[in-house]
Amino acid sequence: MKAMDQIVQTIQQTAHYVNTNLPNHAQSRVSVNASGDKQTDADVWADHLFFDKLSALDAVGSYVSEERDAAIDCGEGYVVTIDPLDGSSNLASNNSVGTIVGVYEAELPATGRELCAAMMVLYGPYTTMTVARDDREIVQEYLLRDGFSERWGEFSLPDDPKVIGLAGKKYARSEGFNELAKELEQHLKPRYGGATVADLAQVLEYGGLFGYPATTEYPDGKLRVYYEAVPLAYLVEEIGGRSTDGTQSLLDVEPDGLHARTPTFLGNEDLIERVEAHMGDGS
Ligand code: F6P
Ligand code: MN
Repeated sequence: MKAMDQIVQTIQQTAHYVNTNLPNHAQSRVSVNASGDKQTDADVWADHLFFDKLSALDAVGSYVSEERDAAIDCGEGYVVTIDPLDGSSNLASNNSVGTIVGVYEAELPATGRELCAAMMVLYGPYTTMTVARDDREIVQEYLLRDGFSERWGEFSLPDDPKVIGLAGKKYARSEGFNELAKELEQHLKPRYGGATVADLAQVLEYGGLFGYPATTEYPDGKLRVYYEAVPLAYLVEEIGGRSTDGTQSLLDVEPDGLHARTPTFLGNEDLIERVEAHMGDGS
């Protein structure tokens, strides 16, 4: 089997297993991981699962997880970056969580321009997996059920935006950003749930903007370049949407470490242009 097919199939199979077993982690305890973020038992469980399955593949040369300090060398092959259980704090309230994966042929450090595939899994009322690959024309969405992965349709972004999901408390964001948010929220319905994959899925279904800006608590934004911002930007840009950190595509961000963070905006082109125009004037 082709190396990339092996990786995609392994993520599908492991995501099925995660989906089936998440109820066992409904009351996951919260601690703090090495990079200062909250980490639940479920994060550690999902990280071990994906590590065991991916590191066993000939196709994987390195496993780089949000839940670990350093990359784990697995031999020759692709570098796989992963947020095994994105939005795990949502488990307590029984809301959606996800998995985000990036696949590089190059060694890290690398920008998103070196990505050759990205995937996201959304564990919602049903589980879907979205796959963008540089060797495929379309971004494919799969429905995962009964142990099978069914081709479900082509991923796309409507032209006419309807929703907006912006993170951060108002007092912790810049005044300029709050002005932009106020303008945009006149015409777009607020949709923010606190799990990037789930919030982005709404934007992709209805058109709109997802954003986690710089805040006083997170001066570089909260989301991680390698595990969240860049793979999701790859998926969005592949279907004609855009991404920005405020001034440039997230695919051009040069991370200064495996756990670097970046302000993250994803969505329809005209809304990303509004964000860049606003940030460009220093506000
Ligand atoms: O992984 C970080 C994360 O859980 C994202 O999935 C989510 O978008 C964000 O944190 C939520 O942060 P906050 O609770 O500050 O809105
Ligand atoms: Mn996450």
